[in-house]
Formats: sequence, C-alpha cells, structure tokens
Amino acid sequence: MAKIGLVTGAGRGIGRDIAQRLAREGYACGLIARTQSQLEETADLIRKAGGKALVTPTDVSKREQVLVAVERVEKELGPISVLINNAGAYLRKPLLEITEEDFDFQLKVNAYGPFFCTQAVVGKMAERGGGTVIFVLGSETRGGPAQYSAYNASKLAQRAIAESVAYEFMHLGVHAASLDVDGAVDSPRVREAMPNTDPSHFVAPEAICNEIVHLINQPKSSWTFQVDLRSFVQWRPRAAPKKKT
Ligand SMILES: NC(=O)c1ccc[n+]([C@@H]2O[C@H](COP(=O)([O-])OP(=O)(O)OC[C@H]3O[C@@H](n4cnc5c(N)ncnc54)[C@H](OP(=O)(O)O)[C@@H]3O)[C@@H](O)[C@H]2O)c1
Repeated sequence: MAKIGLVTGAGRGIGRDIAQRLAREGYACGLIARTQSQLEETADLIRKAGGKALVTPTDVSKREQVLVAVERVEKELGPISVLINNAGAYLRKPLLEITEEDFDFQLKVNAYGPFFCTQAVVGKMAERGGGTVIFVLGSETRGGPAQYSAYNASKLAQRAIAESVAYEFMHLGVHAASLDVDGAVDSPRVREAMPNTDPSHFVAPEAICNEIVHLINQPKSSWTFQVDLRSFVQWRPRAAPKKKT
C-alpha cells in the first residue's frame, strides 16, 4: 500500500511532530491547517530531513475545503492510506459565559472537522481494502472537568465518530482508533503555564508519535481501537488524603 499520510493541524504543536514522524517513517504527507505560513514551516522541516510534504491550507470545519484538499493530496502524492485527525480548537470558559457561537465553533472544528475529513477518505480506503484513521482526543472526554463543557461535548462527539467508523469499516480493512491524550503535552507553552512541574512529567510528543506508528503498523488480526496516554503529572492520587483524627 502506498505510504501517503494526511495530517490535520499540522502547522504547529502535536500535529507538526506527527507529520515529521510520519515522514521519517516514509510517508509522503499532506498537511492541513488554516495558516499557510505555519504549514510551510512544517513542510520545510520535512523536506530538509529528506521527506516529502504537500501544503494544503484548509479549514477542516468547511466541507468543500476538505474535499478540495483531499483531492489535491491524492492527485499529487497518491492514495491516502493514513489520516490523522489532530486539528483541534480548545475552549476553557465558565458554562454561563459560553455563547452559542462558542459552542457551535467547538463542534464545527472538533466534531464536524474529523467527520468531514474521515468521510472524504475512508470510502476510498475501504475500496482499496486498507487504511488507518486516528482521532486525537483529550482527557476531557473522560473526566468532563469544570469549564470545559463546549470542548468536552465536541471531543465526546469526536470519540463517538471514531467508535462508529471503527465498527463500520473494520471488516472492510480500515483500522480506526482513538488516541486519548490524558494530560498536558510537553511544549514551551505548557512549561510556561506550569513552571513548577518537572517537564519529564508531561506527555512527550514523541510518545504520541510512537503510539501512532504502532497503530498504523498493527496487523488486522489484532487491532487496538483505543489508547489512553496518561501523563505522570495527571496520574496523581485523586482521592483526598484521610484527615487525621
Ligand atoms: N496540547 C495538549 O496538552 C493536548 C492534550 C490533549 C489533547 N490534545 C489534542 O491534540 C490536538 C493538537 O493539540 P495542540 O496542542 O498541538 O494544538 P495547537 O498547538 O493549538 O495546534 C492546533 C493545530 O490545529 C490547527 N487547526 C485549528 N483549527 C483548525 C481548523 N478549523 N481547520 C484546520 N486546522 C485547524 C491549527 O492551525 P490553524 O490555527 O492555522 O488552523 C494548528 O495547526 C488537539 O486535537 C487537542 O485537543 C492536546
């Protein structure tokens, strides 16, 4: 099968790391995000390391744009065998302050986005009898902490899409999996926000990339459908210590 990847949210952060890693694994990569300059930077990094990348500026919440990007990637690079739904919009706001527009926006990027991207590639993967679709989720889909109701609802919707795609397409040879990143991912932004935390206690982007490579190389006799990556910093006792009597 041709090694062609499509990575959404590839302009910075985790998506940039994933795209670089897929390129190192021999995948020609279509890169999706809205900001062209950031995608160009990712593509430069890939090309300087000897890989192949195509910049396709796209808003994943706009179906027509997704269809155009997928068509271009398949025409210029080849049939997409791996889709990483990583692009995400993040909102932390008290429930009473969340506007209808905020709520719509979260759903558009985090639920409609992966839905449109998956719908654009998975049918063709099934026709070819193989492919992998990975959904990058966050810890909020489990715990639902305060001030995350819009983000949480959109990511839960994404998890539901992942489950359905997995069951609908597994017998057609397409492996869909959700990768739940349960904790803060190491980045300059996170280190600045949590200066007193040992950086080795955050989820390492490399660990996320390792999981992705593991998932896409699994034989169909034994596919993983869900991965939870927990950071050391999040993995602390949740129960309050007993009061001394
Ligand atoms: N960072 C963490 O600690 C953490 C933890 C758990 C899970 N996650 C998940 O991991 C994923 C990546 O997070 P990150 O921290 O790397 O985010 P980030 O640094 O904010 O990067 C997000 C990427 O998605 C793109 N994007 C956002 N909206 C888009 C849209 N409508 N259409 C196309 N691309 C869009 C952004 O580019 P443009 O703005 O240019 O479009 C950017 O390239 C997210 O799904 C997030 O929920 C992150």
